[in-house]
Amino acid sequence: MAKIKKGWFCSSCGNESSKWLGQCPSCGEWNTFVEEVVSRSSSGSGARVEHLIGATNSEVQPLSSVSFNIEERISLGMEELDRILGGGLVPGSMILIGGEPGIGKSTLSLQIPLYNPSLKTLYISGEESPRQIKLRSQRLGGSEENSFILSETILEKIVERCKQERPALIIVDSIQTIYSQALESSPGTVSQVRESAALLLRYAKESNTPIILIGHITKEGSIAGPKVLEHIVDVVLQFEGDARHSYRVLRSIKNRFGSTAELAIFEMSHSGLREIKNPSELFIPMHSQNLSGVAIAAMIDGSRPFLIETQALVSSAAYGTPQRSATGFDVRRANMLLAVLERRAGFKLAAKDLFLNMAGGLKVIDPACDLAVVSAILSSNFDTPISQKFAFAGEVGLSGEVRPVAQIERRISEAEKLGFQKIFISSYGKLNYKKGAIEIVKVADIPKLVRTLFQ
Ligand code: TYD
Ligand code: MG
Repeated sequence: MAKIKKGWFCSSCGNESSKWLGQCPSCGEWNTFVEEVVSRSSSGSGARVEHLIGATNSEVQPLSSVSFNIEERISLGMEELDRILGGGLVPGSMILIGGEPGIGKSTLSLQIPLYNPSLKTLYISGEESPRQIKLRSQRLGGSEENSFILSETILEKIVERCKQERPALIIVDSIQTIYSQALESSPGTVSQVRESAALLLRYAKESNTPIILIGHITKEGSIAGPKVLEHIVDVVLQFEGDARHSYRVLRSIKNRFGSTAELAIFEMSHSGLREIKNPSELFIPMHSQNLSGVAIAAMIDGSRPFLIETQALVSSAAYGTPQRSATGFDVRRANMLLAVLERRAGFKLAAKDLFLNMAGGLKVIDPACDLAVVSAILSSNFDTPISQKFAFAGEVGLSGEVRPVAQIERRISEAEKLGFQKIFISSYGKLNYKKGAIEIVKVADIPKLVRTLFQ
């Protein structure tokens, strides 16, 4: 009779245990343990899926004899994508692209083979039929010459096909739909995702073929299935953005072959994702007149500086408790800035509603945006517009002081390049900037900012 081996797994980090636990000892999460069938073996030896791919090469070799040169990287035909990968795909590497449903993962992964006709690509879809893929491909344009598709969800069959076809690039959409017949648990469970990724990784390393995995994201924002997946793969790229807006940010959160401080911006058009090479021009306004409640922040995300419009609306609360809502900005930070304005600069904002919005649905985490947010709030409160030719870069501290921010020179230079007349920065910290066309206004604290801007 078949012997069934079961185990308990943490659905957050993939930690395995022989019994149920209330709190995971590895990641500290509560109530995450689920029971799963690990393996079923008719031989009774508890054989796992490893036997399917044969033995690995376990010879010891001198590191100096291993050859690798940078030209071996494979270009994906999209400059921005190559850039966040650190200069293209490394042969034999495994890349995970995660994102919420509808964000554009399938679109991006199908654009890769269509834009690279010289690369024999196998696109494996467990979610869409060949006809659906064809429909999308026609929408995207490009060349279908060297693109092959496979609608399959059984892991062993996928590896078999890859061995026969020997593609130069494999794309799996999505890892949560793939399952191994050696395991009894259903697709998308911790053990299935882990085994599928492990087996595919083994294939990637042995055949030196790069594999791109698509992964769904849970409500909490982590990659569904175990965190283990993030440990297995070489590169993790995260797709972010508001599905209602057309801008998408692809952020590198792990990269064994490059920097993680990278991001690429795309725009979802009617014919697929379009790369945005100069994001600054996108997020700054084109209003014909100056409006109150608008200020422009000189921010840095990843390694790129860009300017982004910040909008604030302050109004008297219609009901007892004032509303505080922020899109693209941390609402707790906005509350902190309001408290600073109240305590350190004497503005009575406790009874006011506040609505904050960053342009384009972009999520901003750079503290340098504080100064623009505060300026936008004040501008709305006074109903006095700030010139669209002014930019802001500074962090606001709890005592109302304006603190210096990292890489200020790059922010100033970006604002100058875009024709801004003035940039407001902290009067503290070192500044190593050659005087140019842009006027640098130094402010020490919020009261000084108010005097400079509105009087
Ligand atoms: P999709 O790639 O299917 O998302 P995911 O695989 O991450 O779930 O993208 C879905 C959305 O993108 C869908 O709402 C339609 C839109 N879209 C466009 O706007 N333009 C296009 O050319 C394509 C192919 C999709
Ligand atoms: Mg999809």
